[in-house]
Amino acid sequence: MDKYATRLVIPPAMPRSPGAVSDRVDFYTIGVRQFRQRILPPGLPATTVWGYGSTRHPRTFHYPAFTIEARSGTPVRVRWQNQLRDREGRYLPHLLPVDPTLHWANPPGGIPARDSRPAFRSTPGPYTGPVPIVTHLHGGRNTEESDGYTEAWYLPDALDLPAGYAAVGSYYEEFKNKFEDLFGDAWGRGDAVFQYTNEGRASTLWFHDHALGVTRLNVYAGLAGFYLLRGGPADLPEGVLPGPAPRPGDPPGRKYHEIPIVIQDRSFHADGSLSYPSGRVAFDGFKGPYIPDSDIPPIWNPEFFGNTMVANGRTWPLLHVEARRYRFRFLNGCNSRYLSLKIVTHPLARRPAHPALPFWQIGSEGGFLPAPVQRDHLLIAPAERMDVVVDFASVPVGTGLYLINEGPDTAFGGGTAGTDFPPADPATTGQVMKLVVGAPTAPDTSVPPAQLSLPAFEPLKEAGRVRRLSLSEQNSDSLPHIGPRQLLLGTLDRNGVAVPMRWDDPVTENPAVGATEIWEIHNFTKDAHPIHIHETQFQVLDRLRADRTVRPAEPWERGFKDTVVAYPGVATRLKATFDRPGRYVWHCHMLEHEDNEMMRPYDVG
Ligand code: C2O
Ligand code: CU
Repeated sequence: MDKYATRLVIPPAMPRSPGAVSDRVDFYTIGVRQFRQRILPPGLPATTVWGYGSTRHPRTFHYPAFTIEARSGTPVRVRWQNQLRDREGRYLPHLLPVDPTLHWANPPGGIPARDSRPAFRSTPGPYTGPVPIVTHLHGGRNTEESDGYTEAWYLPDALDLPAGYAAVGSYYEEFKNKFEDLFGDAWGRGDAVFQYTNEGRASTLWFHDHALGVTRLNVYAGLAGFYLLRGGPADLPEGVLPGPAPRPGDPPGRKYHEIPIVIQDRSFHADGSLSYPSGRVAFDGFKGPYIPDSDIPPIWNPEFFGNTMVANGRTWPLLHVEARRYRFRFLNGCNSRYLSLKIVTHPLARRPAHPALPFWQIGSEGGFLPAPVQRDHLLIAPAERMDVVVDFASVPVGTGLYLINEGPDTAFGGGTAGTDFPPADPATTGQVMKLVVGAPTAPDTSVPPAQLSLPAFEPLKEAGRVRRLSLSEQNSDSLPHIGPRQLLLGTLDRNGVAVPMRWDDPVTENPAVGATEIWEIHNFTKDAHPIHIHETQFQVLDRLRADRTVRPAEPWERGFKDTVVAYPGVATRLKATFDRPGRYVWHCHMLEHEDNEMMRPYDVG
């Protein structure tokens, strides 16, 4: 497949809807639809994807979504509509094989009792009914009813919903009533309205689907987009950093020097459709049956690794840059793949080749770092964001540079990524983008990164309690119903032995409102897992190794984060404050793990 044959798409700003209630809130009406989009290079077929868009502007439907531009102190209210229906109003089935044997949303099971396990579906084959969705603002600090709780999912408002199916998840009604009481804005059929406070620091957030047990498939089908929060005391004045970024109502043809880039690995069939394994391809050695008393093969796979790299919705795109500074906001939007990014002069240059240009990392998930950090490569786990400045000023005009991927790093930052992850193939997944340097069109007035002083960083207060948590792995020999393998979160007993827990086990993490706690995550598995906690932005403290040595947080981990890599054999310690009462989740952000029980509810207050 040709590389560097299409331009990088810079997602425009999502258009707002006229305010219905007040001008102190930014309103959006955003649908989820199915459509076709050119992802592969010219000459190859278009791909059917799912994406978000402003329902009044059909041309805004795109994968990845147009960017929500949010302003500190001004809440954003979004009506999220499930429009996975055809023209006649009948529901559309999933584009990808849904495994009905996981603990998942499971509409045919009706609404299960709270926090209980729905019955296993006993008819053969993948689920082909209407698709549940619920959108989560990743990194946002919001009240529970607006967080996109994984059991607050809802089906499209379709004509042909099968009788007996639950149209909503077990938390939907409660959160709907709560939201309507708080904000006086009614939820409709096939939608949910969420309000985001935007009280946090200026930061690179993103939104994506979070429906229980199908998140990996809904996100893979295209449901993800950026949400950039700007302004407030933790931002820099305009003009200090390279810009601008797309804003609502921009004229066409504007030049942008601040560009968010989401990188995702994908695989495609020859007809252009998305390919996701529908059987036991990623795991050998497992002998079914998966569904008790049947010969049905499992569909869930422990990890997904695609064979192409897609950035902002196109395979191996090309970006023309000027010989000046740029601000890139990288997001690893892969289901499972760790990326290790480097800028080099030849696409096949591998370690130990020196980078052509350094990255100056200025921010992480929760906003700016205390100080810029110069790095020659960026190891970035699924869901992590890295806000960087790259200076092309010294590069001769006409030079072609390559953003390559050497992930997963085998030795990095206090641990190893693990043994189960395939290395990137230099010819395919080892390449991401090409950057062709051209003459600058105007003087660069941004501050050189070495001279940048970033907004004051206020660390969290002293922590009260310490929670000891575990990541562990179980195989199907001991538990016949779980598929080939299951990764689990849990606690630690007095003797330091993992107590694995599943989604429907009772809540064990219940910080008081306003509490600051240390969470110590002991990883007993063979692999690194990116652990994400909702509702908070935490500080990484350090990592304790089995030999009792302590490695402090890496310089680029010293701002606020919402996702941290927990290395095998290491206890990763973080400190978090929990501000808002309610039901939230913490989980592994390898979406295959998350979808098969590597997620736990937790309660604040
Ligand atoms: Cu990015 Cu719980 O999610
Ligand atoms: Cu994991």
